[in-house]
Amino acid sequence: MTESGKFHLTRRHFAWTALGLGATAAAGLGARTEWARDHKRRLYDAAVQPGVTGPNSLQAHAAAKSRLYGAAVVPELLDVVGVAKGHSTDAYTHLVAAQTGILVAENAMKWAALRPTADIFDFTQVDRLLRFASLLGKRVRGHNLCWYEALPGWFYSKVNKDNARQILLEHIRMVAGYTRGQIHSWDVVNEAIEPAHGLPDGLRRSPWFELIGPDYIELAFRTAAEADPQAKLTYNDYGFETGRPADTEKRVQILALLKRLKARGVPIHAVGIQSHLEAAGDQPGAGLQSFIRDVASMGLEVYVTEMDVSCKGLEGTPAEQEAVIAQFYRNYLDLVLAEPNVPIVLNWGVSNAGSWLKYSWLTDTWDRRDLWTRFQESRRQQPLLFDDNFNPSQAFWAMRAAFDAARPATSINA
Ligand code: XIL
Repeated sequence: MTESGKFHLTRRHFAWTALGLGATAAAGLGARTEWARDHKRRLYDAAVQPGVTGPNSLQAHAAAKSRLYGAAVVPELLDVVGVAKGHSTDAYTHLVAAQTGILVAENAMKWAALRPTADIFDFTQVDRLLRFASLLGKRVRGHNLCWYEALPGWFYSKVNKDNARQILLEHIRMVAGYTRGQIHSWDVVNEAIEPAHGLPDGLRRSPWFELIGPDYIELAFRTAAEADPQAKLTYNDYGFETGRPADTEKRVQILALLKRLKARGVPIHAVGIQSHLEAAGDQPGAGLQSFIRDVASMGLEVYVTEMDVSCKGLEGTPAEQEAVIAQFYRNYLDLVLAEPNVPIVLNWGVSNAGSWLKYSWLTDTWDRRDLWTRFQESRRQQPLLFDDNFNPSQAFWAMRAAFDAARPATSINA
């Protein structure tokens, strides 16, 4: 056989192998797709239960108290075409459509998602979310314009002290400008306070602080106001809900930040309390209540932006833990919904289903990070209002009852 023949044979052999591998992969994918479709079909029945939709839904019960209920969603999972054509759609889409009045993208509006390279803005998923929301008359929150996390890889090699201001300005102008007029509220700055870092005013040692200095916060708010004058501009943070000393310290520093911004005439309209809470942790109480009232006295609203309740540290069977989590929801919501300047509550996701479905970040992180805890039923996370099969969990009923018991909000501030 000639050299070229040999080569030919090898190439053909390679082609057959590739074909074989391809076919195996396709069969695997096919089975997975079929399995996923079947799973969706089964879930769909749960999502259309009449007892919890329409006038019985969370959004209807919230609206009765001039409030909005919403959730963080993964836009890729929403069947926008199905909704546009009026087809019956999958369970996830159906649940989001039925229960929420306001949506936020779990990740799709973050820097890393929007900016694959320094020069490209990719709004594909943003378009999806906005279209879905406008088809169904839902509001949309923007999350977020300036954060120390979720920065794209190129950020660290490209951004320096000379260009950081400009790059932040351009980003906010482009993103808030693109969605102008369609966003209820923007988380303009996310998580800027961390007293444990020991910087003046309790500021977090974030890339923005290092590159621009403390003024980056004011700069971001002023730029966002120019780019989208209709959006409510929000400062969003976590870890200041409970009576822990660290939480108390963070509340003090957030209030001081808000006062400085207001004194300088910076456009800001609301504070987001993320509310990633732990059922076995310290309880939120009087400290949070007086924080909300102090914020109200500054003329600002408060949004519960990312609520979920971790089972970390809880003992007992999954059913017992579910009851504790539901009671925690009820206590927390009774506390915050007693305040008339809290018009919005959002959950950080909709269903407790496992991380392969991308439904709750908690199932993907701390408590279930390693394989072992993943399979321990008693360590299962059930932080949200719908279970693995999209049936309401006890927390759903707790949330709905809390809306019923609440006094009406002053305004939704549309
Ligand atoms: C989380 C997402 O849920 C995860 O999918 C992602 O891997 C990391 O970010 N505070 C915030 C949110 O403001 O943006 C975070 O979302 C959760 C904590």
